Amino acid sequence: MFEVGGQTAIVTGAANGIGEVISRRLANAGARVAIADIDDQAAAEAAERIGKHAFPLHLDITDANSVRQAIETLLVRTQSLEIVVNNAGLAGKAAPVWEQTDDDWNRALAINVTGPFFMCRAVMPHMRSRRYGRVVNIASHCCPAKISGSDSNSLTISTITHGRSKNDLDWKGAGLTSFRLPTGETMMGELWTHRLLATDPTSARKRISEVCCPPRWRF
Ligand SMILES: NC(=O)c1ccc[n+]([C@@H]2O[C@H](COP(=O)([O-])OP(=O)(O)OC[C@H]3O[C@@H](n4cnc5c(N)ncnc54)[C@H](O)[C@@H]3O)[C@@H](O)[C@H]2O)c1
Repeated sequence: MFEVGGQTAIVTGAANGIGEVISRRLANAGARVAIADIDDQAAAEAAERIGKHAFPLHLDITDANSVRQAIETLLVRTQSLEIVVNNAGLAGKAAPVWEQTDDDWNRALAINVTGPFFMCRAVMPHMRSRRYGRVVNIASHCCPAKISGSDSNSLTISTITHGRSKNDLDWKGAGLTSFRLPTGETMMGELWTHRLLATDPTSARKRISEVCCPPRWRF
C-alpha cells in the first residue's frame, strides 16, 4: 500500500467508474481528493461514498475557464496540489472514420486531448513553484493494440498515449513527472495507478511494463 498522506489530488471524471476507484484508493492512502466532474450531483454522491477525505469540485475539462476556476478554488481550499489524474475521457462513437461526424470528432478531441492540456497548463505554475508534482494521464489500450471500431477514441487517445516527449522535457528539471496509462479494462486503471504512485517513477514504470503489458505495449 502506498502512502500519500498530507497530499492533495484532483481526479477528473471521478464521479463514476475508474475515476471513482482511483479517488477511493488515493483517499485510503491519505490524500485529500477533489472529485472533479461535470456532473455535480454524481460528484457529490461519489464523495459521500468515498468518505471524509473526498469532496466534490465542479469542472468541465473542455472549458479552459472552468478548469482555471476549479484549480483556483481547489488551491484556496487546500493550499497545495501534488497529484493530478486526467481520467475524464470519452470512448466516442463505435464507428470507423468515414462514419464519424464533425461533432463526434470535436467532442472526442475536446475531452480526450484538449482537456488534459487545459489541466496541465492550469496546475503547472503551482507545481513548478513547489518543484513537485505527479500527473497521470489515463489513456486506452485501444491505441497500442490497434483495436478497430471506435476511431475517434483511438485517434484522440493516441495523442495522450504517444505524445509525450516535449511535455516530458518541459516537466523535467522542475521536479515534475507525468505518466500515461493505456488502460485495458476497468481494474487495470486502479492497479496501474496504485503501482505508479507507490514508488519512484522510473522503477514504477519498469515494473508496470513488466507486470501488466505485453512487450509491444511497453512505454
Ligand atoms: N472503462 C474501461 O474499460 C476503459 C478502457 C480503456 C480506457 N478507459 C479510459 O478510462 C477513463 C475513465 O473511463 P470510465 O469508463 O471510468 O469513464 P465513465 O464514462 O464511467 O466516467 C466518465 C466520467 O467523466 C465525467 N465527464 C464527462 N465529461 C466531462 C467533462 N467535460 N468534464 C469533466 N468530467 C466529465 C462524467 O460525468 C463521468 O463521471 C477514460 O479516459 C476512458 O477513456 C476506460
